[in-house]
Amino acid sequence: MSPRLPQGSQLHYLTPRDSELPQAGPELHLEGVSLQALAQAHHTPLFVYSKAAMLEALAAYTAGFAGRNALVCYAMKANSSLAVLQVFAQAGCGFDIVSGGELARALKAGADPEKIIFSGVGKTRAEMTQALGAGIGCFNVESLAELDVLNEIALGIGQRAPVSLRVNPDVDAKTHPYISTGLKGNKFGIGHADVVAAYEYAAACKGLRVVGIDCHIGSQIVDTAPYLDAADRMLDLVEAIETKGISIQHLDFGGGLGIDYAGDTPPKANALWAALFEKIDARGFGERKILTEPGRSLVGNAGVCLTEVLYLKPGEQKNFCIVDAAMNDLPRPAMYQAFHEIVAVQPKLDIGTTTMDVVGPVCESGDWLGRDRDLSVEAGDILAVLSAGAYSMSMASNYNTRNRAAEILVDAEVAHVIRERERTQDQWRSEHLL
Ligand code: LLP
Repeated sequence: MSPRLPQGSQLHYLTPRDSELPQAGPELHLEGVSLQALAQAHHTPLFVYSKAAMLEALAAYTAGFAGRNALVCYAMKANSSLAVLQVFAQAGCGFDIVSGGELARALKAGADPEKIIFSGVGKTRAEMTQALGAGIGCFNVESLAELDVLNEIALGIGQRAPVSLRVNPDVDAKTHPYISTGLKGNKFGIGHADVVAAYEYAAACKGLRVVGIDCHIGSQIVDTAPYLDAADRMLDLVEAIETKGISIQHLDFGGGLGIDYAGDTPPKANALWAALFEKIDARGFGERKILTEPGRSLVGNAGVCLTEVLYLKPGEQKNFCIVDAAMNDLPRPAMYQAFHEIVAVQPKLDIGTTTMDVVGPVCESGDWLGRDRDLSVEAGDILAVLSAGAYSMSMASNYNTRNRAAEILVDAEVAHVIRERERTQDQWRSEHLL
């Protein structure tokens, strides 16, 4: 009886057929690679990603976009490791970036600058200059103050910056408050009522060239309805903007599509886009260039984090399973009380099950990876924290002077090391003693 594995993860339990160990039980594999063997060879904590799972997730978008003028701009904040970016760049994706650092990474990984869009409420002058120099496709601007600065910088170097304004559609994405971005109370976007005037303002700026409109209502969205509501509101705005003689070439619907963490059933990307295109076509915008900015749904279920059980610590109120990965490697549980499935890489059938909290070594009670999990494990066993391809390594820190984990990308039977384990001297490389 193997644990449930998330949709689209390329994970499966294999029972070795002609194993030297006749008693050997099922063993978790990612594509054709044994995760136990990877943990032994590369140690833990270790992130392991499946290239096939990423490309399968992308294929759902490209299927939804068949016959359309559309571009997937991977929101690289979800996982910005160079080799991951390279996979998407080679597959023809553009990138949604939010910093100069992300721009440099995308270019390093082979991104086409024209397919890069730059989101975020707080772009600095230096970042704007860097992105103009690189020749990116669009700045997704979030305020009039930002328009002014971008205009000034572009004029200064004799360019016209391509811009889209991020609309705040005031739609409830019904997700965690920290990752909901399309409500009036959020810091994101330009309020619906102010959008047309903002476009008139942008169109009058000599250093700017209006190219599109965008919105993004939140993350880990598992319903189609909020997307359709946001699309309706955005298309209303396009009509109103175009009556002012300003033409909008591309429509960017943002990212946000959720994944299966705990039996969640978000629509598949092609089903979501079939529903969106029905609306877009019905409203007469089917010929426009369409952009989307998915992050989590392209990489979330393509990755796991392997961690070793250090100690079992039974207690009066709680039992603890102390592992070598922590909140600095996997911050989502501590930050959002997020659920990640945790499974044994080699499930043990001969020991009893205990309900335990899976916790890391960091000195905070908030350092937990899973609560009240039924596990049959002993010290030395390897666990896999699932759905760890998105917002895990990219949010990892050095808290407690812990070195960041190594990363492996699996392609069929081959395991590529895409990031070496950090060393302590890497951490203090830029520090100075008095
Ligand atoms: N576009 C914009 C403008 C965004 O702000 C985001 C995510 C995306 C696209 C990609 O959204 P996705 O498709 O990945 O849902 N750290 C949080 C998620 C933060 C999302 C921030 N913005 C988490 O771990 O759940």
